[in-house]
Amino acid sequence: MTQFGFHTTGQQVVEAFPEQAKGRTFAVTGASENGLGATTATSLAHGHPAAIFLLARSESKITPVIQKIHAIDPSIKAVFVNVDLTDLDSIRAAASAIQSQTSKLDVLINNAGAYSPWESYGQSKAANILFSLELAKRGAARGLLAFSVHPGSIYETNLVAHLTQEQVQNIGEMAKSYGFEIDPRKTKEEGCATSLVAALDPRVESQSGKYFVDCAVKQQKAWAADPEDAARLWTLSEELVGQKFEL
Ligand SMILES: NC(=O)c1ccc[n+]([C@@H]2O[C@H](COP(=O)([O-])OP(=O)(O)OC[C@H]3O[C@@H](n4cnc5c(N)ncnc54)[C@H](OP(=O)(O)O)[C@@H]3O)[C@@H](O)[C@H]2O)c1
Repeated sequence: MTQFGFHTTGQQVVEAFPEQAKGRTFAVTGASENGLGATTATSLAHGHPAAIFLLARSESKITPVIQKIHAIDPSIKAVFVNVDLTDLDSIRAAASAIQSQTSKLDVLINNAGAYSPWESYGQSKAANILFSLELAKRGAARGLLAFSVHPGSIYETNLVAHLTQEQVQNIGEMAKSYGFEIDPRKTKEEGCATSLVAALDPRVESQSGKYFVDCAVKQQKAWAADPEDAARLWTLSEELVGQKFEL
């Protein structure tokens, strides 16, 4: 049985599960060149998917990613979808654009995100974990699976562009002040592997709602594991977007 860990790359995960990627349709948010979303997409390209929708704010940052995908496999339908995730109208337009081009989306990888102040960043990530927990619960009857993932510490992407040089230098001290340690660094290829395990590995199907680190389930921190908070976040999200989602 294939074992994955800290140094597993996204391409290795894709090549381990050829039937899970082949012919399927994926969407990756925040797939701009040089980030983890782009590396996720180019890793997926090795598995002969039917289509990859690449969501981002700027087409010029997606064109090189589409070129890389086509250099790996020219038959893949690789499509830029314009979205600004801070704008609900833009999100709805992006969803319609995808719906108009495919009858089915097999896997959505919610990769986009970056908020500079640490507390907002931490809150947004806790919300991602809680949201997946509730989505997994609500979607279970329909066979919908949801996972949250931590990619590791990857310094080669554009994420550090949101920090000052001083903040980058003091990142270890800052982490300690919040009670955690910064992980050893990973490459982008290693950083996209955990998402791809959640997306492709059939062995994780019984783990819907769980949080993954280094390609394996990890216990969430208490503040990101409470089912009541997860349900409250779902209700708040519905209020904020002005729409009820019956799953
Ligand atoms: N790198 C790490 O060490 C690390 C560690 C833990 C978690 N993560 C998470 O992993 C994910 C990818 O990070 P990364 O390192 O690849 O960072 P990145 O290079 O900065 O990529 C972030 C992506 O999100 C997009 N994005 C940000 N705000 C958006 C918005 N309002 N609407 C649409 N797209 C938006 C960016 O688009 P633009 O190109 O238009 O800005 C970019 O494509 C993020 O969620 C990050 O928080 C990363």
